[in-house]
Amino acid sequence: MASPQEINNLQSTFQRALNFSGSPGAVSTSPTPSFMNTVPQRMNVVKPSKALKPFSSGDIKILLLENVNQTAIDIFNDQGYQIEFHKSSFSEEELIAKIADVHAIGIRSKTKLTAKVLEHAKNLVCIGCFCIGTNQVDLESAAKLGVAVFNSPFSNSRSVAELVMGEIISLARQLGDRSIEMHTGTWNKVSHGCWEIRGKTLGIVGCGHIGSQLSVLAEAFGMHVLYYDIVTIMALGSAKQVPTLNELLNRSDFVSLHVPATEETNNMFSAPQMAAMKDGAYIINASRGTVVDIPSLIQAMKVGKIAGAALDVYPNEPAKNGSGAFSDELNPWVSDLVSLPNIILTPHIGGSTEEAQSAIGVEVATALSKYINEGNSVGSVNFPEVSLRPLDLDQENTVRVLYIHHNVPGVLKTVNNILSDHNIEKQFSDSNGDIAYLMADISNVDQSDIKDVYDKLNATEYKISIRLLY
Ligand SMILES: NC(=O)c1ccc[n+]([C@@H]2O[C@H](COP(=O)([O-])OP(=O)(O)OC[C@H]3O[C@@H](n4cnc5c(N)ncnc54)[C@H](O)[C@@H]3O)[C@@H](O)[C@H]2O)c1
Repeated sequence: MASPQEINNLQSTFQRALNFSGSPGAVSTSPTPSFMNTVPQRMNVVKPSKALKPFSSGDIKILLLENVNQTAIDIFNDQGYQIEFHKSSFSEEELIAKIADVHAIGIRSKTKLTAKVLEHAKNLVCIGCFCIGTNQVDLESAAKLGVAVFNSPFSNSRSVAELVMGEIISLARQLGDRSIEMHTGTWNKVSHGCWEIRGKTLGIVGCGHIGSQLSVLAEAFGMHVLYYDIVTIMALGSAKQVPTLNELLNRSDFVSLHVPATEETNNMFSAPQMAAMKDGAYIINASRGTVVDIPSLIQAMKVGKIAGAALDVYPNEPAKNGSGAFSDELNPWVSDLVSLPNIILTPHIGGSTEEAQSAIGVEVATALSKYINEGNSVGSVNFPEVSLRPLDLDQENTVRVLYIHHNVPGVLKTVNNILSDHNIEKQFSDSNGDIAYLMADISNVDQSDIKDVYDKLNATEYKISIRLLY
């Protein structure tokens, strides 16, 4: 999204780059120690690649709100971007005043990037949600403006798996109840109904990022691991995939749920599934609150079919912390649930650790930097996912064209006509609904061609936004 002024700057900067200038903001043709050269490659030998920069990286302005993690700030600093950092979120008025000026914005869950706010974004290239959810951003409006949105869905997988391990032992030893009793002055030393977890069977439902981490941890504790998933997944260690959920339920002492919230998983765990479990088995749900039918769980625990449960997620969850927030008004069965023995209730803290926050900072800041510097949109939640392999260090006079456009017939023909005076070294294009994104590396481009290519692409009727990187 370069203005004519930026194009002029580009020409002079391009010249500086060709002259191997070391001036601030100019393109470096030497390998930089940035993340781009540290990302693991599939080959053993990591080949240094040319660091692409948008016209002048010093011009990139990033607004970071809601106290995003220091790991993100370090990554943006390494890229030479200008950072404005705030601990709090911004109101709609503050966002409108600020957003016109920035190329990227980093938020967590409190900042609302509505269609009205996004309308005022003139230079915005991407948005980073330094959290899991993205419903605080109007994703469709962002896509229509050619703004890619990134988040971090998997940085807290280990934290969830560790919490579940802790809960398996806590349930087997009735730790929650013993602790509550001690807090109220009751000494109750019992061994009846308390177990070691060694040699017991853990059934994992949904063996993705979290389920597979849990599988490894559980085996290290001497548990047998079974898992059920709708896709065939290579077993880790001695874990075994079972063909049906029923088989898993029949054979497991502990059942831990790690499926996404989908139509199929809505109340996937209800009375028939609990009936299929072993007598005295345990249920753990740290996935989504819609997966377990809680009235059925209460019933199964009351009759002793289920010996204990740990829940981290609920169909309705309070919007903010506070005493009295988890009540019958929120979910009508809360009083019944909290009165049960051996039930561990936590306020959706599965992924809430310092390590997860730091990993989220790295993941989102890396995704934003890769999109700004290379055009790589892999991982975007609202945008076609496109990437091209990096340029070689010796590839001079090569320009990377990033063309975001309406997904209509005839675009590629028009664009390739414009690029056809140059050698199109590689090209990749994909669409997502009405939005399409084309990346192309063109070589034999001298500085006088750049403005020409830009102007011609800018004049195409399908264009949403354009960036040229070199
Ligand atoms: N408690 C927390 O704080 C917390 C934190 C992170 C994630 N989560 C939740 O944990 C769950 C798992 O997260 P993940 O990162 O491991 O997800 P993932 O996408 O990596 O794995 C989910 C797995 O479930 C499988 N699956 C989907 N539908 C299924 C079905 N009907 N039956 C069986 N398997 C099915 C998928 O094939 C996949 O292997 C999600 O619901 C996520 O929202 C909770």
